[in-house]
Amino acid sequence: MSRPPRILLFDSGMGGLTVAAAVAQRLPQAELFYCADSAGFPYGAWEEVTLIERILAVVGRAVARTLPDVCVVACNTASTIALNQLREIYPLPFVGTVPAIKPAAEQTRSGIIGVLATPATVKREYTQGLIQAYAAQACVFLHGAARLAGMAEAKLKGEGVDLAELADEIAPVFRIRGEARTDCVVLGCTHYPLLAEEMKLAAPWEVSWIDPSPAIARRVADVLARERLSEQGPSGAVKAGTVMFTDGKGAKNAAAYGPLFGRVEMLEV
Ligand code: DGL
Repeated sequence: MSRPPRILLFDSGMGGLTVAAAVAQRLPQAELFYCADSAGFPYGAWEEVTLIERILAVVGRAVARTLPDVCVVACNTASTIALNQLREIYPLPFVGTVPAIKPAAEQTRSGIIGVLATPATVKREYTQGLIQAYAAQACVFLHGAARLAGMAEAKLKGEGVDLAELADEIAPVFRIRGEARTDCVVLGCTHYPLLAEEMKLAAPWEVSWIDPSPAIARRVADVLARERLSEQGPSGAVKAGTVMFTDGKGAKNAAAYGPLFGRVEMLEV
């Protein structure tokens, strides 16, 4: 293989940028494509069956357009319902993003873990399965945060973050049980690390915030190595990434996707 690997990242909006940044850091020569289903944002409020259909349609179009070597579903809401179908349909490696409950269970000392995710992700059997498999001994408080993804997008568009509103949104995972209190909070939606600084300010006490992006980037590198696609291109020149939107509203905010994604395209779904 004498060309850089082509990596497609997919999310409902800007959240996947947290994963894209980690992937770009780990694989600086890769050619990156980003598909933001801006017309479908936010996914957190969608009904399950319709959302699965939507994800399959959008990813299908993006895969046909970019012919990637690997597709990163940089969205917990999408990964927890559609990853298996995507793997069945496309002969392509898919790397998903699911709430980092396992690392939280390994890290907690108090035994109290908070999980912030979209309302859709907290309802999924997949998420319950992760808790049973990896954190059965811990006390896990899940919160479906309806406004956080929108607040993260507003921040990247240059609007301010209301710390009082943010404090309200994260409060349900800060719990005290006797002498113990929450010491790890899983960021179970890729949008949330975009608010990392503000969350630290709004939190009632210090905790470890678990952002899975570096682990996802490692996984992408492993998959490419397994497929023997990790060799870098001969020129060494890094190509500007391409971002694709599913509506004009998303394209209007394309500047928020820079500097990784300088080229803008529309994807008709
Ligand atoms: N970034 C997405 C996730 O990881 C979804 C945000 C949304 O569209 O509600 O779940």
